[in-house]
Amino acid sequence: MPTIIEPFRIKSVEPIMMTTREEREGYLREANFNTFLLRARNVLIDLLTDSGTGAMSSEQWAGIMRGDESYAGADSFYRFHERLHGITGFDHILPTHQGRASERILFELMGGEGMVVPNNTHFDTTLANVEHSGARAVNLPIAEGKDPKNRHPFKGNMDVAALEALIAEVGAEKIPLVMLTVTNNSGGGQPVSLENIRAVRAVCDRHKLPLFLDACRFAENAWFIKTREEGQGERPVAEIVREMFDLCDGATISAKKDGIVNMGGVLMMRDATLFQNATNLLILTEGYVTYGGLSGRDLEAMAQGFKEVLREDYLRYRIRSTAYLGERLLDMGVQIIEPPGGHAIYVDAGAFCPHIPAEQFPGQAVVAGLYREGGIRACEIGSVMFGQHAKPAMELVRLAIPRRVYTQSHIDYVLEVFAELHAKRDTLRGMRIVEEPPALRHFTAKFEEI
Ligand code: F0G
Repeated sequence: MPTIIEPFRIKSVEPIMMTTREEREGYLREANFNTFLLRARNVLIDLLTDSGTGAMSSEQWAGIMRGDESYAGADSFYRFHERLHGITGFDHILPTHQGRASERILFELMGGEGMVVPNNTHFDTTLANVEHSGARAVNLPIAEGKDPKNRHPFKGNMDVAALEALIAEVGAEKIPLVMLTVTNNSGGGQPVSLENIRAVRAVCDRHKLPLFLDACRFAENAWFIKTREEGQGERPVAEIVREMFDLCDGATISAKKDGIVNMGGVLMMRDATLFQNATNLLILTEGYVTYGGLSGRDLEAMAQGFKEVLREDYLRYRIRSTAYLGERLLDMGVQIIEPPGGHAIYVDAGAFCPHIPAEQFPGQAVVAGLYREGGIRACEIGSVMFGQHAKPAMELVRLAIPRRVYTQSHIDYVLEVFAELHAKRDTLRGMRIVEEPPALRHFTAKFEEI
């Protein structure tokens, strides 16, 4: 098979900053070992997130100029609406400024004291929004999803029996909705199969519960379905995507992922009353219904991005280039969550530095090491991120790949830095938190090395 190349050429470039090891040591200390607190200009390869960091296409930039900035009824809104309706079949579609704005509106309406919200695995802002409403967030991943070495093709799946058990335990009247995150970000960027979505749908039907997708990475999920699920190989991705949405009653989307835009979100639902209530809240806190806190030009960029993300040559390259990083890391003996995820590779930091106990944040130690060695910025997904809630199953470091931004040689450089760090991993030191906020501490906590 010929090399799967980047299916684009580069029209506009942005310099990235080389720094010395000494400079990075200084920046790391100034940032109190929290890479969220680094200045981005001092980062060489930024794998902190794939959210809002993608490169827009020439057609998206053309859309930016076309943006209709009318307060109400802008053409840009209708282009956005038509595109999302075309992809998902939904009629009730609201633009929001990003995914968590959609979540905040949804859970303000459907959450609340005494309620329980099941998900395969809640993303951190989803969990925080569920709990902010007074409800309890419950994660129900399949057992295979918790074992880093298990190569189950759909490790993002929800444990359907556990969902049934939860409903039996708390009562269907306490469950306002069931959510499925596709792909399952906090569980390793792993996909959810159509079969699993159908099975969850069947449970929801039996108990008359609405099913919502957290559909940030719906296109990547659909590509995994096409390439891994029996009987799906011949179907166009767009058709699989449509079936995923047909199976649910609503969705929240951060367009900063598979919308390939720098800012934007979507909230969709079938229920007309819920839509009316969501519209009222949107107007109260985000903006009028035809712009939802965005500029007309943002809606244009989204309309175009959601079209481009469904191109199969793009998805083939996208999923392959993430797998390339993951497979090379495995080759060098670095344990990752297998198989490689869609938007990111998740390194098992507990296995990388067995000498650092979970209470001393092995993930944060690896994150600091990657920056110190090579100016690479990654993100801890473990006891720092989730420790205020419950002890997480794994101590992970996420290398998230921005869309259409880095080339293969950038990724080869990341691999070289990893090889160096791996060779001296016994020298990595644990961390202690010296200052932290009451929630979502990973964004602002300050650390020191032990
Ligand atoms: N749901 C999932 C599965 C996400 O990954 C994110 C964001 C959100 C919801 C919230 O969307 O950022 O637009 O408000 N994930 C980013 C990340 C931040 O780095 O994984 P948002």
